[in-house]
Amino acid sequence: MRFRPRFLLLCGTAAAAALTAGVALIGTAEAATTLGASAAQSGRYFGTAVAAGKLGDSTYTGILTREFNMITPENEMKWDATEPSQGRFTFTNGDRIVAQAQSNGSRVRGHNLLWHAQQPSWVAGLSGSALRSAMINHVTQVASHYKGKIYAWDVVNEAFADGGSGGRRDSNLQRTGNDWIEAAFRAAHTADPGAKLCYNDYNTDGVNAKSTGVYNMVADFKARGVPIDCVGFQSHLGTSIPGDYQANLQRFANLGVDVQITELDVAQGGNQANIYATVTKACMAVSRCTGITVWGIRDSDSWRTGENPLLFDASGNKKAAYTSVLNALNAGGGTSGSSPTTPASGGCNASVSLNSWNGGYTASVHVTAGAAAVNGWTVTVTLPSGGAVTGVWNATNSGSTFRNVGYNAQIPAGGSTDFGFQGTGTGPTATPTCRVG
Ligand code: G3I
Repeated sequence: MRFRPRFLLLCGTAAAAALTAGVALIGTAEAATTLGASAAQSGRYFGTAVAAGKLGDSTYTGILTREFNMITPENEMKWDATEPSQGRFTFTNGDRIVAQAQSNGSRVRGHNLLWHAQQPSWVAGLSGSALRSAMINHVTQVASHYKGKIYAWDVVNEAFADGGSGGRRDSNLQRTGNDWIEAAFRAAHTADPGAKLCYNDYNTDGVNAKSTGVYNMVADFKARGVPIDCVGFQSHLGTSIPGDYQANLQRFANLGVDVQITELDVAQGGNQANIYATVTKACMAVSRCTGITVWGIRDSDSWRTGENPLLFDASGNKKAAYTSVLNALNAGGGTSGSSPTTPASGGCNASVSLNSWNGGYTASVHVTAGAAAVNGWTVTVTLPSGGAVTGVWNATNSGSTFRNVGYNAQIPAGGSTDFGFQGTGTGPTATPTCRVG
């Protein structure tokens, strides 16, 4: 499979489309002074990984309750922690973290239901259908225990291989069959239909072979109705950040999933504060980026010993990186990173971006209302002969004509919505048209 550079086609019912900045500043009289409150101004959250064993440390808990409004258990909900022997579940430490979050009005990102690492030792004795049954039972039991208490679950963690293959990582889970990921998502959805269900990975922070492998899986899941709601980008960063960090978030968002920064930490160095700011601004510029989580509170709490990668020093003092994040959150933003044009009058616009490979493609279509609100829209694309549309999400289609579904019929004046489709052959090569109704 080969990734070709994406391209963007823009068109509209208004010939002279007005160029508008896709950023709305938040008009607060005074800037918020904590990370959580600042993120909340744009409807986002700011979270941290928490270790249950540190909740007795008053400096730690003081910063936690003051600054953060989302918590991810660092280790306490992993398979080795929650099912140390087969069928015997222990939720004590996970429950402590949920209670801590609830007492502070914070939400919880569940981490994680399935991962090739940190498995209990008994799992090593299983394979094939016995392992498949055990892992689905694990997903079901843990997601059921926490039903109604989890904002989003990392259902599957780190299932793609590093390097240029764009394929799956070999693991005992993968060897139960390539459908293990979708089976896990379906089981989690059955157990807790209210939780957002995420795929989470690292080294997927720019457009590269690994992130494109994940992208193609998410597009396929959306096309086939596998219940996936979000993609987590861990963002364990060194002294640089991919130049297409924001574009990568946006291409996933255009598939119709939320995106979240889930385990952010950045090596200390001259660039640390700048890189933190760049990540924050990228999330703020992507309307479906719903929040950021840092992987620990103080440098001394980090798994990256000696790299001082967090926002507070070992004494709990705010670092320069903290200030850069707070300022970026307070600067606001977040209407949409992919709506460069707005029709000058009523009507609607459509733009399409493609990810193509030999023999197929996924198309992300961005529909923008003009000066008047839209109630129902139809987008027509021109498809080369010889190909077929094989899946559609957030729309229905008849051939190359796509119509809104119930929940995205209405677009407010100047607002936008996204749908997508997957096909064989070559994707749209001419400008799409958009009409109201
Ligand atoms: O609690 C025991 C302690 O009793 C024992 O004395 C000590 C001896 O090694 O180990 C302690 O457990 C360690 C645990 O962290 C708690 O500190 C484990 O050995 C250690 O393996 C574990 O590391 C965690 C790591 O995942 C495991 O792979 C890190 O805390 C945790 O930050 C890290 O988090 C992962 C995410 O889940 C997924 N993405 C990458 C990220 C960083 O590796």
